[in-house]
Amino acid sequence: MNKVLLAGSTGYLGGFILKELVNRGFDVKTIVRSVNKLPPSLIGNNKLEIVHGELTDPKSIENCCRNIDVVISTVGITKQKDGLTYMDVDYQANLNLLDEAKRNGVKKFMYVSVLDGDKLTHLKICEAKERFVFALKNSGLDYCVIRPSGYFSDMGEFYEMAQKGRVYLFGDGNYKMNPIHGEDLAIICVDAMQTKDKEIPVGGPQTLTYNQIAEMAFAVSGRPPKITHIPLFITKAVLLLLRTFTSVKFYGPIEFFMTVLTMDLVADERGTCTLKAYFEELKTA
Ligand SMILES: NC(=O)c1ccc[n+]([C@@H]2O[C@H](COP(=O)([O-])OP(=O)(O)OC[C@H]3O[C@@H](n4cnc5c(N)ncnc54)[C@H](OP(=O)(O)O)[C@@H]3O)[C@@H](O)[C@H]2O)c1
Repeated sequence: MNKVLLAGSTGYLGGFILKELVNRGFDVKTIVRSVNKLPPSLIGNNKLEIVHGELTDPKSIENCCRNIDVVISTVGITKQKDGLTYMDVDYQANLNLLDEAKRNGVKKFMYVSVLDGDKLTHLKICEAKERFVFALKNSGLDYCVIRPSGYFSDMGEFYEMAQKGRVYLFGDGNYKMNPIHGEDLAIICVDAMQTKDKEIPVGGPQTLTYNQIAEMAFAVSGRPPKITHIPLFITKAVLLLLRTFTSVKFYGPIEFFMTVLTMDLVADERGTCTLKAYFEELKTA
């Protein structure tokens, strides 16, 4: 299992996985749309082959999996505004890569979905991701689906709100989650290349309520805590209006965040990076 193809390396999690793979001495090939989004320290590294390709265009990735042992994909729409849908990217683009992997005899395909995505298929993002998971499970390849809770990169929003003086939470703020740092998750993903686990639900080392996350953000920012709790009936009404009057490209991400912020999202506690240390990093950045 020495040669790895990574798709998604220009993103938050993919960037950490790329560093982890290279640091552990794997030969890595990565498919990117824009080379300048890769971690600059890795460009020119002799363990890393960078190829340009558009996963949404099967022709442009033809034979990308030749001589590859393991494929890892973290590809998905988060904040991209390319005019594409989750079905175009989270499902179809990953399926294009899976087809290449099958054609070239790849040994294992690893994919990053979301925690409890299989129970949230009424959300557009999870519908697309889980459709891909279904295809992966039926591909005949060895596979692993990583199911993370939230990422620290998204927790930055709480810190930004605290710095501006007020944090807005949905409901009473007592739902819980254990978000994970990309660095910790990257170690878990790379370790999983060598294990037989088919599904890995995973979160960070601390389970916190959203009130606790907000209070931590205020404590680090040095601002007095001011939290506004938005009643759930308002969030439900807003979601209904958005689903009725806007396109899925607009409401998809909002629907996802409003839903996961109004439920518990807790998986096995893994990793060592704390959210407080992450907020402190943001403060000094
Ligand atoms: N954020 C969370 O809390 C969370 C929690 C659980 C699971 N996840 C999932 O974990 C995965 C990775 O998340 P992340 O935060 O690392 O996302 P990210 O920073 O947005 O990175 C996503 C990657 O997908 C690529 N991508 C997006 N649209 C593409 C397209 N049309 N064609 C080719 N590549 C495309 C991006 O390439 P470009 O750089 O070229 O755009 C980037 O490399 C996502 O699938 C996400 O849904 C996220």
